[in-house]
Amino acid sequence: MTFDIITLFPEFFEFYLNHSILKKAQEKKIVKINVINLRDFAVDKHKTVDDKPFGGGRGMVVKLEPIFKAVSSLTKFKIQNSKFKITDKKSKIILFTPRGKKFNQKIAYQFSKLDRIILICGRYEGVDERVAKYIADEEISIGDYVLMGGDLPALIVIETITRLIPGVIGKSELLKERITKEKGFIEYPQYTRPEVFNSKKRVSWRVPKILLSGNHKKIEEWRKKHQKVIE
Ligand code: ADE
Repeated sequence: MTFDIITLFPEFFEFYLNHSILKKAQEKKIVKINVINLRDFAVDKHKTVDDKPFGGGRGMVVKLEPIFKAVSSLTKFKIQNSKFKITDKKSKIILFTPRGKKFNQKIAYQFSKLDRIILICGRYEGVDERVAKYIADEEISIGDYVLMGGDLPALIVIETITRLIPGVIGKSELLKERITKEKGFIEYPQYTRPEVFNSKKRVSWRVPKILLSGNHKKIEEWRKKHQKVIE
């Protein structure tokens, strides 16, 4: 799986992509993550990537041409019914916008089957609407709130997808058990040592007895009762 992040702030990604699961997944060559600086694709000598909105209004809008140039540089494509189409069927172009389809575990699971995802991170007051109309395959929102741009959403989407790819998380068999294609991801409460936590004898916070019993059938029932299926 290859992720290409098109952003105005490539340095934001450095730390996060080089730690923990995402770092390991890259080292194991299960995923490849390219961070692309949109400014490198500006079409004028001042490296302009934004401009005033037609019709007036506040703020600046991310320009269409640098995005077109950046996306075209990454993959083979054709123009079909006036739209930008990547030739490889197992690739997708995502544009982050609070107006997009709400991201969830099911979408993450579908995306995890792809070979390549190009993620376009907007900034300023928005992105020229022609990117959504002609270039992006999907507009994605991570929730009903407005962020400063698509950079955090890109990290969230990449992390959610990457941990679903076989081989990324150590105990893949265990993970498989907890993912059901139809039902989504099963989350239940987890505990670890100590069995009882005492703070100066004022509290006594215990692990549910059943989890210490060694009775797998009972544990399974308890987990089922307390689980949440994340769809
Ligand atoms: N850009 C700004 N806010 C966003 C959101 N909630 N989801 C995706 N992209 C965004």
